[in-house]
Amino acid sequence: MIYFDHNATTPLDERVLEEMLPFLGQLYGNPSGLYRLARVSRSAMETAREHIAQLVNAEPEHIVFTSGGTEANNVALKSGLIKKHLITSAIEHPSIIKSLPNNGAKKTIIGVTEQGIISSQEISDSADFDFASFMMVNNETGVIQDIKKITQLVKKRGALIHTDAVQALGKIPVDFQDLGVDLMSLSSHKIYGPKGCGALISKQTDLMQNFMTGGGQEQGLRAGTENVAAIVGFGKAAELAKLELQERQAHTLKLRNYLEQQLYRVSSVKVFSEHVPRISNTVQMGIQGCIGEMLLMQLDQKNIAVSSGSACASNEEASSHVLGAMNIEPQLAQSAIRVSLGKNNTLEEIDVFVQELKQIITKNR
Ligand SMILES: Cc1ncc(COP(=O)(O)O)c(C=O)c1O
Repeated sequence: MIYFDHNATTPLDERVLEEMLPFLGQLYGNPSGLYRLARVSRSAMETAREHIAQLVNAEPEHIVFTSGGTEANNVALKSGLIKKHLITSAIEHPSIIKSLPNNGAKKTIIGVTEQGIISSQEISDSADFDFASFMMVNNETGVIQDIKKITQLVKKRGALIHTDAVQALGKIPVDFQDLGVDLMSLSSHKIYGPKGCGALISKQTDLMQNFMTGGGQEQGLRAGTENVAAIVGFGKAAELAKLELQERQAHTLKLRNYLEQQLYRVSSVKVFSEHVPRISNTVQMGIQGCIGEMLLMQLDQKNIAVSSGSACASNEEASSHVLGAMNIEPQLAQSAIRVSLGKNNTLEEIDVFVQELKQIITKNR
């Protein structure tokens, strides 16, 4: 099978699985316990926290483990930090778009350019906001936002800023301190770690309301016995992502350049956001005269996995809200498919994909 949907999820790295297995077997201690078996779990969890902190240059004590990026995003917006007015963009993941603050605070949606860049002018023009949430990398187009610059704009207004760094992690350098953000969401399964695990990084833990009530786990913010094996896996995946970041970037860039060179020869193909900075593994394209969902199914019959728009949202949306916000003509938006490459893909797989795609396009005409 040819797997080109790494922005939806990545396969578990074998080295990650190896690290996790003991914690699914003989090392079953509850990390809150005081005896040796428990202390082993606690210590493995803290090592994982350190690896994640090192990957994003944050303090380990600012990291709270969650069930994934969705939970981290929800918590950022719902844990009481927004008092009156939230600004966010039209291209955020549904876990931000649909997460209204509980207290009825106002919400303003900032637009994007046709290439998918968040409008800093609209941010500057916004009045009286006290909280901003902007994604670092878009999951569909792969566009990289200038979060450092946006943070400076937001900070001038004395507001807090959260960034969803789920798609940036492991693909570009992510530096929590240098960006200057207050909160950041991460997810394990986009970096070859296990699903159902993520983190919220926050300098504001003292200002946040607890979001899961019970025992005192995770500084009393998120009660519940921790998913130790998954956290250990996330930590190992973070350690590997730090070590291999440049190699992975270079590899996917080589594949993507090769893919795009061939796509440019197919006149009906339009690559979105091609003129702005994008992560090296992502190509979202529209194919004139086709329907994205149909293409996806036809490619699936050839054992090739891609996504049409956002995998997380594709079962709900007629066409992508991201492409809609970029003002892409609806018919072209509906024809979109996304290829997201990973560290184990090869040039030969790109050749097979391009060949099959061309045949499908010809057949559909
Ligand atoms: C940008 C972005 N944010 C958040 C999420 C949600 O992360 P999780 O699947 O860990 O809940 C995703 C998942 O696709 C994503 O792409």
